[in-house]
Amino acid sequence: VREPDLAGRHVVVSAGGTREPLDPVRFLGNRSSGKQGYALARTAAARGARVTLLSANPSLPDPAGVDVVRVGTAVELREAVLRAAADADAVVMAAAVADFRPAAYATGKIKKKDGQEPAPIALVRNPDILAEISGNRSRPEQVVVGFAAETDDVLANGRAKLKRKGCDLLVVNEVGERKTFGAEENEAVVLAADGSETPVPYGPKEDLAETVWDLVAARLA
Ligand code: C5P
Repeated sequence: VREPDLAGRHVVVSAGGTREPLDPVRFLGNRSSGKQGYALARTAAARGARVTLLSANPSLPDPAGVDVVRVGTAVELREAVLRAAADADAVVMAAAVADFRPAAYATGKIKKKDGQEPAPIALVRNPDILAEISGNRSRPEQVVVGFAAETDDVLANGRAKLKRKGCDLLVVNEVGERKTFGAEENEAVVLAADGSETPVPYGPKEDLAETVWDLVAARLA
């Protein structure tokens, strides 16, 4: 158990994965379980922070002592992040946000028609929430943290992404069989805008969460 080094701080954590609806019964989604984001929310609360958890579709119960806002799509998550970040000391974007959404939403269920090939699904880009909040901080000392799940050239891609997004910290993890998505454990490297790199060995998602808050608390101090 850490010191209550986040007492008096407001932190915002996004968790889970957005769902982008095609029609009333179908969506485009991803494999994020929300477990890493929930671990971040629980550990920040244990360290004394006021926590707003923006939760995109995980099948997890609300953690105690945390304000939970449920969201569905990337556009809804963006609205919730902008609102919650207004007075936040730190924003951690652990959610897997869909890069694209269907261009059109069918208000009735899309039907298959005999003898007809399915129509292609047209996509449009979603807003990049992390880049937007990094570039428009509601307060200059606000710490912004992103996550990056990569399958190849993990560190090189992570360093490029940290620059491109403009955040202070980027947690990079390798995605693979039994790794990261849905798992209880994680393994990562936390890249910082100042060039430092903090490896976090394979272990419970709480361990990675504590390391993220150590690095955030050091920057807020
Ligand atoms: O670009 P990529 O999706 O790999 O970046 C991942 C990071 O950016 C995560 O922190 C995720 O929450 C955030 N993100 C975002 N808005 C998007 C896509 C990703 O905030 N549209």
